[in-house]
Amino acid sequence: MKYFLDSAKLDEIKYAYENFGIDGVTTNPKHIKMSGKPFMQVVKEVSAWLKEAGLEGMDKFPVSFEINPHLDKWEEIVAAAKEVASYSPNYVIKIPCCEQGLIAAKKLEEEGIRTNVTLVFSASQAIPVAKLGAKFVSPFVGWKENSGDTSEYIYDIIDIYREYGYETEIIVAAVRNGRQIGDFAKMGADIVTCGLGVYKESFEHPFTTYGLQVFRDAWDGTAKE
Ligand code: E4P
Repeated sequence: MKYFLDSAKLDEIKYAYENFGIDGVTTNPKHIKMSGKPFMQVVKEVSAWLKEAGLEGMDKFPVSFEINPHLDKWEEIVAAAKEVASYSPNYVIKIPCCEQGLIAAKKLEEEGIRTNVTLVFSASQAIPVAKLGAKFVSPFVGWKENSGDTSEYIYDIIDIYREYGYETEIIVAAVRNGRQIGDFAKMGADIVTCGLGVYKESFEHPFTTYGLQVFRDAWDGTAKE
């Protein structure tokens, strides 16, 4: 299972790539806002870093950018997506899962621009995404669970995609904790995406901290020679 980082902060992206070997990046307008930089500046800076790091290429390190979410006609979505995609072969365009978004995603995939259909909250939304040939689908587990709902629909999407041999890769998005990472890995999700803090927490366990102290105490109480 691949790990993508949900962030538009270049320092975080570099840190997670250099130290944990993350496999790609996802962003949304909230992340761009949190970066404190204009949207196009982030698009250009990430593109420059991909080149510098030797990661440039369509088959390497995908980076998803969401275009202006106010656009609600497929023609406008396609035009904005093409503009962003022109900055790097790594760029994948996030498109909202709705009628006009699905039409736009189909046109873009037909023209060789990869899409990540986002804001997916049901299996019935995920099926047309795969049928149109989108590169990625992003069901949002965190938002569902935060609202008191279950993650069952993500298991359904994984089963349906396997059953029909759909090639769209499933990015389990808005992951909030290590339990979810383990659960979705076990179920066969292709990718999870979350913030750096969630990954860092998932590397730790209270028993590891406790055990380390036990071993430190034993070390300190033992002759070395
Ligand atoms: C995924 O592609 C989304 O950007 C993301 O996971 C949304 O979740 P958030 O609520 O953590 O921003």
